[in-house]
Formats: sequence, structure tokens, C-alpha cells
Amino acid sequence: MSNRLQELLSNRPLIAPSMLKCDFGNLHREFALLEQAEYPLLHLDVMDGNFVPNLSYGPMVIERMRELTTLPFDAHLMISDPAKYLDDYLSAGCDAITFHIEAVPEPTELLGRIRENNCLAGLAINPGTSVESIEKFIPLCDLVLVMSVEPGFGGQEFKPSALDKLRHIKGLLRDDQLLSVDGGVAIPTIGACAEAGADTFVCGSSIFNELDYSEAHSGLKAAIETVNR
Ligand code: DX5
Ligand code: ZN
Repeated sequence: MSNRLQELLSNRPLIAPSMLKCDFGNLHREFALLEQAEYPLLHLDVMDGNFVPNLSYGPMVIERMRELTTLPFDAHLMISDPAKYLDDYLSAGCDAITFHIEAVPEPTELLGRIRENNCLAGLAINPGTSVESIEKFIPLCDLVLVMSVEPGFGGQEFKPSALDKLRHIKGLLRDDQLLSVDGGVAIPTIGACAEAGADTFVCGSSIFNELDYSEAHSGLKAAIETVNR
């Protein structure tokens, strides 16, 4: 197992800020504040205007972000052809690369390519897609990401149907695999996600709408604690 994965596993639960909502005009400051607030992982939402109806940023921006922080990056590729661009994301310095089963219905080869490059491999699943579609590929993943909103935009309302999916997938995972939930994760919803088995929580609005990122971090962790007791 890679050191990176071991470190993440032992620091669970992980709150991963989704950089879609950060202040792109002042990335230096944003990274410094997130480091001070001791977040263990950053979630980078990549959108191509095709797989999802929105555009964000790509490998060139990630490469520059890489110079500004040592925090691990999980690139969430909401793009139609992740295999075509994989090398760009690897060389941009991503520590984990997560792509969608809806974009790559036969993901064995791509998951293998990511892992061969010492990167963690993640598979994401949309709200409308059944767990059966990823079931046989789960052993090949380091991380499974359950979307709790339709991908494309931050600030949407959490879909409770994600909870059953988390429970189902949790039952299929080994202990050395991460289970992530993405979309509308905030103080009122994070506890239920933890109870359903998630250990990695992608949070956009619930961090970046707050003035104090440290307080946001401890508030989210406290909300997980309440249900774990
Ligand atoms: C949605 C993205 C999410 C999103 C999360 O397509 O995958 O990562 O930015 O933002 P919030 O937490 O605001 O739903
Ligand atoms: Zn995301």
C-alpha cells in the first residue's frame, strides 16, 4: 500500500474541501488558510462542459496549484474521456484521480493505469446510476465516490437517496478503501453520511461560505462525532 493511502486511511474521517467554491483570485491565501485549518485532502472538480453542463479548470491550473501547497490532491474528473487526458493529470501532480463510471463503463484498464503511476484510483457514481454498474470494479479502486447531487455545480441540495447507496457500497469495501460522498455535504447532512459508512466528505459551500475554515472543519468533524458515539 502506498504511504499516501496509508496516511489518509489512518486520518479518517477526512473532510476534503472542494476547490470549486474557493477564491480563485487568491489561491495563495486559500491554500494557506486550508493548511492552517488542517484539512487532510483537497478535492479538485474538473468539468469539461460535455460530461456535465459546466466548465471549470484543467491540468494547467492544477499544475500551478501544485506549486502552492503540499496537501494531497484528488482530481474529480467530470469529463467524457478521462483516458485521453490521464497523463496530463498525472504529470500535474494529482495524488488521486477519480473518474466516472458513466464516462467509462469498462474502467478496469484506466483504474490500472492510474495505480501503476503511483496515484490512487477512484471511481465515481452519479445519483441515477445503480451500484451494480460498479460492483465488479470495486476491488480495483482505492476510493469510491458517491455523488449526492447531479454533478456540475456546487451549492445544490443533498439527495438522501445517496445514503442507501453508501450503505450498499460500504458492505462491498475492504478496510483499505475510502468511501467518499460529494454534494450538499454540510452540518445537517454529514452525520447521516457517516452513519451510512462514508469516511471521506467532500465539502464546498459548507467550508467556503464560512469566514473561518478552521471552525468549519471542527464543526463538520463534531457533527460526525455526534453520530459515531
Ligand atoms: C459537484 C462537485 C462537488 C461540489 C460540492 O459537481 O462534484 O464537488 O463542488 O459542492 P457543495 O459542497 O457546495 O455541494
Ligand atoms: Zn466533486
